[in-house]
Amino acid sequence: MLAVLVALLMATRGAAQTQPSLKEVFKKDFLVGAALNYPQILGLDGRGDSLVRQQFNAITPENCLKWESVHPRPETYSFEVPDKYVAFGEKNGMAIIGHTLVWHHQTPRWVFDSANGKPVDREILLRRMHDHIATVVGRYKGRIKGWDVVNEAVDEDGSLRQSPWLKIIGEDFIVKAFQFAHEADPNAELYYNDYSLENAPKRKGALALVKKLQESGVHVAAVGLQGHYKLVWPSPAQVETTITAFAALGVKVVVTELDIDVVPASQGNEGADLLLNNKDMRRADFYAAGLPDSMQQVLARRYTGLFAVFVRNAEAVDRVTFWGVGDGNSWLNSGGRVNYPLLFDRKYQPKPAFDAVLKTGMK
Ligand code: XIL
Repeated sequence: MLAVLVALLMATRGAAQTQPSLKEVFKKDFLVGAALNYPQILGLDGRGDSLVRQQFNAITPENCLKWESVHPRPETYSFEVPDKYVAFGEKNGMAIIGHTLVWHHQTPRWVFDSANGKPVDREILLRRMHDHIATVVGRYKGRIKGWDVVNEAVDEDGSLRQSPWLKIIGEDFIVKAFQFAHEADPNAELYYNDYSLENAPKRKGALALVKKLQESGVHVAAVGLQGHYKLVWPSPAQVETTITAFAALGVKVVVTELDIDVVPASQGNEGADLLLNNKDMRRADFYAAGLPDSMQQVLARRYTGLFAVFVRNAEAVDRVTFWGVGDGNSWLNSGGRVNYPLLFDRKYQPKPAFDAVLKTGMK
């Protein structure tokens, strides 16, 4: 009896020790990261944190380094949470990513407005941008490995987005942001980060932008493909074309915010019309009772298709970061959706998609 028990115990321990992790399996290919939310950064989610330690070797802050969080008022910087975020990464030997310096969202109005409510002029906005970047990047100099310097500056048609940054400063706001970041930490990797670069017109615009930055003497270490994907969009071939196109410019590719929205009502024009003939499927909470096994398999196959591309292009791909740890953390639960976009479920248990992804790394 005792012998059986001991054997059993050893077998379980052995299993626990050999439990494969994403970071191990893809060690030779790329870093594997996760975005951390406030509870995870503050140590209020012990199970989340231990899963992060076990599976990932890179982290991105989901919100705490965005302008509105870290610099809510002109003279107020709020570094308490970001300090903890960086300490968590250092303690666990992880690649620590900064997200994000210059964006049109989650940036307070005061940044763009003067006291009388009118937009500030170019010089003032450039100074604010400079001071923000110098202060935030400077604080973590040598500790944050790379920064999403400019986020989402290109529009769907490939032109530059008409953001307050563009309207007030002009096209060179992007070069300036990269220069300021480089001055603040000459060794940090600097990224341009955007979504839907898998669509040809937007990709063309981003490729032109990267070329222009390079011609201005700016070193773009990598382009971030956010990777907010649907079940059928973009195709693995589109993703591969995108990686190859940026790699040809001599920049790396990082997948920065990977998740797959499975809610039928979120599928947009991508083949969802048929599905949405069914009235129930238009409900955001269509999967409130759980994701059926057949859909777990669909998601697993979808992840397999994407990771096959990442692995095949591992020379160009430096990192793949998921936008959240478990499904319960995901921003894709907004708008009443009950979503299942990640590799771990609401109890942080691995889903079939987790095993499927691991398989793509076990060559
Ligand atoms: C999202 C966060 O996940 C949410 O918590 C927040 O309310 C809004 O922003 N592109 C980005 C990310 O670059 O910063 C966004 O994160 C998702 C889209």
